[in-house]
Amino acid sequence: MRGITKLSIALSPLLFITSTAQSDQQPFQFEAMSAPSHTLPPLPYAYDALEPHISAQIMELHHSKHHQTYVTNLNAALKTQAEAVTTSDIPTQVSLQAAIKFNAGGHINHSLFWQNLAPASSAEAKSSAAPSLVSQIKATWGDETAFREAFKAALLGIQGSGWGWLVKVEAGKEQRLAIVTTKDQDPVVGKGEVPIFGVDMWEHAYYLQYLNGKAAYVENIWNVINWKTAEERFVGTRADVFKTLKASI
Ligand SMILES: [Fe+2]
Repeated sequence: MRGITKLSIALSPLLFITSTAQSDQQPFQFEAMSAPSHTLPPLPYAYDALEPHISAQIMELHHSKHHQTYVTNLNAALKTQAEAVTTSDIPTQVSLQAAIKFNAGGHINHSLFWQNLAPASSAEAKSSAAPSLVSQIKATWGDETAFREAFKAALLGIQGSGWGWLVKVEAGKEQRLAIVTTKDQDPVVGKGEVPIFGVDMWEHAYYLQYLNGKAAYVENIWNVINWKTAEERFVGTRADVFKTLKASI
């Protein structure tokens, strides 16, 4: 490889390529590095562990089919994008952005969702497992009941498919809590935003059990919220929250 200089160029957090520049003014030759492949993270409990509030049938389909599909489609889109970067095919790179956002969002949201649920009988499912977070919730909404009512109203106000999240918003040394709803699979990844817990409001999350009883699903999910995880996300850093994603690569 005499006379050839290797350069490593990071184009985005998702993509890395290596270019080969020849000293005799020949055009760049690109060597593609394979895109990272993501895998379905295992559930931290059995499929029937959230019964009777979320059925085993829903959990198995939701995790092994729906979430798996987001992971599969994300990997395919990232692979195609890596190839498009290699060939400097910018139109294809641009055309892939929507698919990457949707499927990466689905992977992010569901990975966080599984971790923020716990069996109703466990200590994690009691809000006493989140003393710092509950203190902030009371300071923000007055009491837990008022917070739950506000969160419920936000969830039931979602039109079509989407998610509702309790989010820690960091701005400098200040931090506050906010209830945020997102459409489709848009994730909460804005600067300074730390998702504490989210509720999947797609019909696939409840319809097999609750049919059109969306309000009952929203009411019952409080029985299986993992407050211990919520507390860890609240007192931790943004990077801590997304560590489960890195573990799935
Ligand atoms: Fe879902």
